[in-house]
Amino acid sequence: MATRVKGRQKTGEAAAGGASGPITVLVIHGPNLNLLGEREPEIYGRTRLADIDKELKQLGRELEMKVETFQSNSEGGIVDRIQKARGKCDVLILNPGAYTHTSVAIRDAIQAVSIPVIEVHLSNVYRREPFRHHSTIADIAHGRIMGFGAESYSLALRAARTMVEESRRQSG
Ligand code: DQA
Repeated sequence: MATRVKGRQKTGEAAAGGASGPITVLVIHGPNLNLLGEREPEIYGRTRLADIDKELKQLGRELEMKVETFQSNSEGGIVDRIQKARGKCDVLILNPGAYTHTSVAIRDAIQAVSIPVIEVHLSNVYRREPFRHHSTIADIAHGRIMGFGAESYSLALRAARTMVEESRRQSG
């Protein structure tokens, strides 16, 4: 079943990567994810962030997508990066880390730029403390992938491709 990519359907604006250019994806990692591999490996696994980013770029090449990655420990840094992506990328893959549960500013930034978002988590937050069950972006995300460790990101990248292709097919 066809699903239109949220944030594109209304405006008819050129897709960031262009309606026919390479699909462009920005992956944003939130606070403490720079410590992946060392930080609570029983929850987050032993893969380091640099290796996740490398794999995503490699997968992006295989799928003919442009993949950019960014990490920040600060909410403002993440908001700035989302704003900078306006009109320049087709999909945001976003793991807001602990800001998932608190940040109205990140939610507002996503809505301001109208770029569809795939929310990603390494852990299944519903198997964890109740305060992790709430996400400020869950209802505005195109979809959510969690619980597969580092693989959550590559699943999201594949999903991003499918979703943009479908959207382009519909508008083309
Ligand atoms: C996380 C889950 C969050 O609750 C936590 O604060 C993180 C990582 C995840 O990827 O599982 O920093 O987003």
